[in-house]
Amino acid sequence: MSDATAKSLAEFDEDLAGARMKGQWQFDRLLETLVGGPRPAGVPHLWSWNDINAKLLEACDVLPESFTARRNVAFMNPGLERGTSHTMVMGMQMLKPGEIAWSHRHTMAAIRFVVDGHPELVTVVDGERCPMEDNDLILTPRWTWHDHHNGAERNCTWLDALDIGLVLALNNGFYETLGEVRQPELDRTGHTQRYAWRDLEPVLLSMASEDGSPYDGIVLEYVNPVTGGHTLPTISCRIQMLRPGERTQPHRHTSSGIYHVVRGAGTTTVDGIDLEWTDRDCFVIPNWAEHSFVNQSATEEAILFSVHDIPALVALGLYRESPERSPGVAPWPGVPADA
Ligand SMILES: [Fe+2]
Ligand SMILES: [Fe+2]
Repeated sequence: MSDATAKSLAEFDEDLAGARMKGQWQFDRLLETLVGGPRPAGVPHLWSWNDINAKLLEACDVLPESFTARRNVAFMNPGLERGTSHTMVMGMQMLKPGEIAWSHRHTMAAIRFVVDGHPELVTVVDGERCPMEDNDLILTPRWTWHDHHNGAERNCTWLDALDIGLVLALNNGFYETLGEVRQPELDRTGHTQRYAWRDLEPVLLSMASEDGSPYDGIVLEYVNPVTGGHTLPTISCRIQMLRPGERTQPHRHTSSGIYHVVRGAGTTTVDGIDLEWTDRDCFVIPNWAEHSFVNQSATEEAILFSVHDIPALVALGLYRESPERSPGVAPWPGVPADA
């Protein structure tokens, strides 16, 4: 075809659109926005324990019973349509004395971290009875049956975190209820989805004089009891200690992280925004946002629990850190399943 009869580029783009096609030249501007990496999804944000607890207590009045849908308030990132980060959601759940949250399962993987527990507060995971004492971690891997029972004589509270954003982005959500309020408990001796705080805390405190990571202080990852790898295929769980007065160096990574303050007081600076935290607060660090931590106490350690979407990114070859790969993330072994 001669130049005289060639269509203009704008006309050709319109023709292609009519044929349900698009020339790659139309994506150049999109690619240019990715020089240096993605823009963080969502914004840094903190949810204070005072606000969370007040809303949960109110929810106990508004929802007189906790049925299958759960009495959980999820933390909504102000910069996202849904979720705490773009891949994960964290929330807190409260059960009143004697309540049972009905048995169900879903393709979203979940973890529970106990905020205000009791030996008679229990999660059952595929038949395994897991007591929920303060700061214990309980896993409910993808598609495992789980129900929660409060046998204590007071309200109990825990954190839930799930990979909802990721699973829904992949359009792979499945959900079903058991049809019974509770599943049968099985003899699962040697099998565990539970990491007891009473075992972990002394190990963490004993590491206070080690070098740790310049970006996180002393940090341990909970190791999956079956695979020996990341906590779950999509979520890694970490416990972190900032020594008195410790200040970490800034870094960033392609993963997002959601944090819960086990104890202590400090500041996390995320892309220039200071998040001031204290006991039981929760906050989010979006993906590829630069961040650093300060323990504001000169005498007490600060301890943070956190969840990250690192395993999903590692599996896809998408995980990056800047300015370097962090050293010093040590494993905290789970008890081998069916040992
Ligand atoms: Fe669930
Ligand atoms: Fe980090």
